[in-house]
Amino acid sequence: MIIAIDGPAATGKSTSAKLVAEKLDFTYLDTGAMYRCVTLLTLRNSVKINSNHHLDSLLKGFQLDIKKNKDEYFFYLNGEDVSKEIRRSDVTKNVSAVSALSIVRKTLVKIQRKIAEDQNCVVEGRDIGTVVFPNADVKFFVVADLVVRAKRRQLDLKILGEEKTIDSLIKEIHDRDRYDSQREVSPLSMAIDAIEVDTTNMSIDEQVDFMVNKIKTLTKEKK
Ligand code: DC
Repeated sequence: MIIAIDGPAATGKSTSAKLVAEKLDFTYLDTGAMYRCVTLLTLRNSVKINSNHHLDSLLKGFQLDIKKNKDEYFFYLNGEDVSKEIRRSDVTKNVSAVSALSIVRKTLVKIQRKIAEDQNCVVEGRDIGTVVFPNADVKFFVVADLVVRAKRRQLDLKILGEEKTIDSLIKEIHDRDRYDSQREVSPLSMAIDAIEVDTTNMSIDEQVDFMVNKIKTLTKEKK
């Protein structure tokens, strides 16, 4: 069974998707983290993203592993744990441009389908319900007010030791959403059969309960 959870940046979808997966005893796949890993790879190799040739060989030779330890997921790029580094601002700043490239999407979508096939999986991203798994059993599209999202992101960054103003985060999130929604390949958009979840005034527990109850009701109806 596949549960697709899509939506713009910083809506709380990663936190709730992970908890939904735990409650249902499903695997959780954070596809945004995969795009962040490839972005880190391009930054470390000083790849110009308009140089297809260089990017092509880089994508053919990299190894991406996801390991779970005590309910936490760790991302390994060519054997190195980069779970913290991929959340840093320089990666965030560049990830939209890298994830807009069709060669990057083709490579990662293939890996995503391979990981999720034949197992129960909560897959979270931007194009899961529309492109990666259009036949997902249940689809959610998570949204939230921009200022609330900026405040949540500010807290996340504080934990990583980064201080940013609300105004700069509002601009950053707004710009990233615009870029992700307007790109040519697999833009961020709500699947017509997705359920919209507005988390502006919802706690994490409320988001998780809402989604788990919906999944249980809808999958019972389908049987
Ligand atoms: O969820 P996140 O903020 O970690 O995602 C980082 C970026 O990756 C986001 O700005 C767009 C891109 N992304 C994507 O293009 N497709 C996905 N399925 C997931 C993320």
